Amino acid sequence: MSIYVVGNWKMNLTPTAAIDLVQGLARHNAVSDELVNVVICPPFTLLSMINDHDIRSISLGGQTCHHVEKGAYTGEISAQMLRDVGCTYVILGHSERRRDQHEDDALIGRKALHAHHVGLRPIVCVGETLDQRHDGSTFDVVKHQLDGIIASASSDVVASSLIAYEPVWAIGTGLAATAEQAQEVHAFIRSHLHASGISSQVPLLYGGSVTSGNAAELFACVDIDGALVGGASLKADEFAQIIHHARSVAA
Ligand code: PGA
Repeated sequence: MSIYVVGNWKMNLTPTAAIDLVQGLARHNAVSDELVNVVICPPFTLLSMINDHDIRSISLGGQTCHHVEKGAYTGEISAQMLRDVGCTYVILGHSERRRDQHEDDALIGRKALHAHHVGLRPIVCVGETLDQRHDGSTFDVVKHQLDGIIASASSDVVASSLIAYEPVWAIGTGLAATAEQAQEVHAFIRSHLHASGISSQVPLLYGGSVTSGNAAELFACVDIDGALVGGASLKADEFAQIIHHARSVAA
């Protein structure tokens, strides 16, 4: 199975910086091939421009979308609108949206169902907070999130999605989970999906302070099929190195 490297740009970059970044990736050969799938998820306003830029071997994704087709939802973006500007993926249920927009598992599942319906591949995020890790409830939290999402999205939709395990305490903190910590939760997710009748082929990405320094070790874990990268996806050299590590591990 090839490795996924997904860049989540969040609310960053100007049009000029965005083009510099994608050109830098192309120059570093940090693009998709048979070993690695490279996906970038820029802010909505940059998608169309990047799509027009003809970067064929880097896939585009949105950072969220609405759960209905269209209508009076001020400030929202539909799954079809993302499709129309070249997206093939969408991140759903990122912890920053769970925290700031109060998205819950049922809503995330509905978004995944609708995104799948219009032809976007959801990248569904789960993960525990630091308190939850400290009180020993990591597996329960992740299981509960997955069950809520499966219940509203259907197991078929989850089976054709990617799941990103993103411990909240590791996001943007520089304090990544160790490869052992990540592998342990990934193995749990894999077995819970299996117990829920979902194929063990669902790619499981790790996210949270992934850098060129820890990527190779993470990718080498048996249940880690890729990474969802925030801060380190904003610099061409750094993101390219992560992609090169993925390629070496996959080879
Ligand atoms: P980070 O973000 O790599 O900056 O920790 C990851 C994410 O939020 O997806």
